[in-house]
Amino acid sequence: MKILVTGGLGFIGSHTVVELQNEGFDVIVVDNLSNASIDVLDGIEAITGKRPIFEKFDLRDKLKVQEFFGKYDIDGVIHFAASKAVGESVEKPLLYYENNLGVLVYILQELEKKGGGNFIFSSSCTVYGQADEMPITEDAPVKPAESPYGNTKQIGEEIIRDTCKVNPELKAIALRYFNPFGSHPSNQIGELPLGVPQNLIPFITQTGIGLREQLSVFGDDYPTEDGTCIRDYIYVVDLAKAHVKALQRLLKGENASNYEVFNLGTGKGSSVLEVIQSFEKVSGQKLKYRIVDRRPGDVIQAYADTTKANKVLGWKAKATLDEAMKTAWDWERKVRNSDKDKS
Ligand code: WQD
Repeated sequence: MKILVTGGLGFIGSHTVVELQNEGFDVIVVDNLSNASIDVLDGIEAITGKRPIFEKFDLRDKLKVQEFFGKYDIDGVIHFAASKAVGESVEKPLLYYENNLGVLVYILQELEKKGGGNFIFSSSCTVYGQADEMPITEDAPVKPAESPYGNTKQIGEEIIRDTCKVNPELKAIALRYFNPFGSHPSNQIGELPLGVPQNLIPFITQTGIGLREQLSVFGDDYPTEDGTCIRDYIYVVDLAKAHVKALQRLLKGENASNYEVFNLGTGKGSSVLEVIQSFEKVSGQKLKYRIVDRRPGDVIQAYADTTKANKVLGWKAKATLDEAMKTAWDWERKVRNSDKDKS
C-alpha cells in the first residue's frame, strides 16, 4: 500500500511516517522543506530501517501536483503540509489561504479525477474557538475563527465535506488535534521550531536549555484554578498512531460515512503552570518565568472528549504529560548539544 504523506518531514508528519512504516506501509513524502530539514529522512530511516521515497516540491505548484499523481498510484493520502503559525496568519492571510486551501483543492481534484480515494486531513481544535462545554465533543459548534489559520482549518473541513458529498468513493477523515508535543523515544526525530517558538512547550525547553532568557506566561487572571489557560497536551507519537488507525479504518471500508471527524487529545486538561511544574519535575531544574499580559486570541480552556476516537478508532493516547515532557527535554538537549558540536 502506497501512502502519500504531504509535509512528511515536518513535526507531526515525520512521526506519522515512522508509524506508517512500522505498520508496513510504503510511504512517499512530499515536502518543500520550508519548515523541515532533509536530515529528518535520516532520522526516519534510523528508527524504522526504511527510507521513504522523497519528492521535494511545493504543492502550490498545481502542475507538479498533477505530475505527481500521474506518476504514482496512491492508496491513501495524509495531508499535513500547511502553514500553522497563528500570529503569522494574521499578518499574511493570503499566504495561508493559498497554502492551506489552494493546495487542498489541488490534491482533492486529483483524487476526484481518479474516482475517489482515502484522505486524512490534519485539522485542529482551534475550529471550536472557546467551546461552551468541557470536555469538547466533535458535536460542539464550530465558532467564527480567531485567525486566518483557524479559518483555513474550518474552511478546509467544509471543502472536504462538500467534495465527499458528490464523490461517494472519496472517503475522508478530519483529525482535530489538540496540543501536540514531544519527540520520538529514540531521540532521532522531534520538534524543530524555526525561530522563536510560538508554542508553550518548545519555548519552555528552549528556556530550560538557556536559549531563551525566560518564559512569559500569557496571563494568570483567567477563570481557572490557578488563573492560567488550560489545554490538552498530547504526545506526538500517540497522535501519529491515531493517523494510522484512521487510515486503516478507511482502507478496510469501516467508515460509517465518507466524511468523519475525530478529536485527538488525551481528555485531560493541564494549565500553563502545571506544564511548567511538569518540566521542572522531569528536568530537575527550576524554570525562569514571569507573568505578563494575556495573549490576544487565546481561549481560556480547551480539552478533548476522546470517547469517539477511543470507541470508533480503537485508539487512546497513552503517554502522561511527564512522560511526553521527558521526550521533549531529551530532544532539546540533543539538538542543542549537536548545535554546539557544529559551532
Ligand atoms: C498554549 C498555552 C498560551 C506560549 C496553538 C494553535 C493550535 C495548534 C497548537 C497548530 C496558551 C500559553 C504559550 C508562551 C504562554 N497549532 N503560552 N507562553 O495557542 O493552545 O494552540 O498551537 O495546529 O491550532 O492555536 O498553543 O502552545 O501557543 O499555547 O503562556 O510563550 O500556553 O497562552 O494558554 P495554543 P500554545
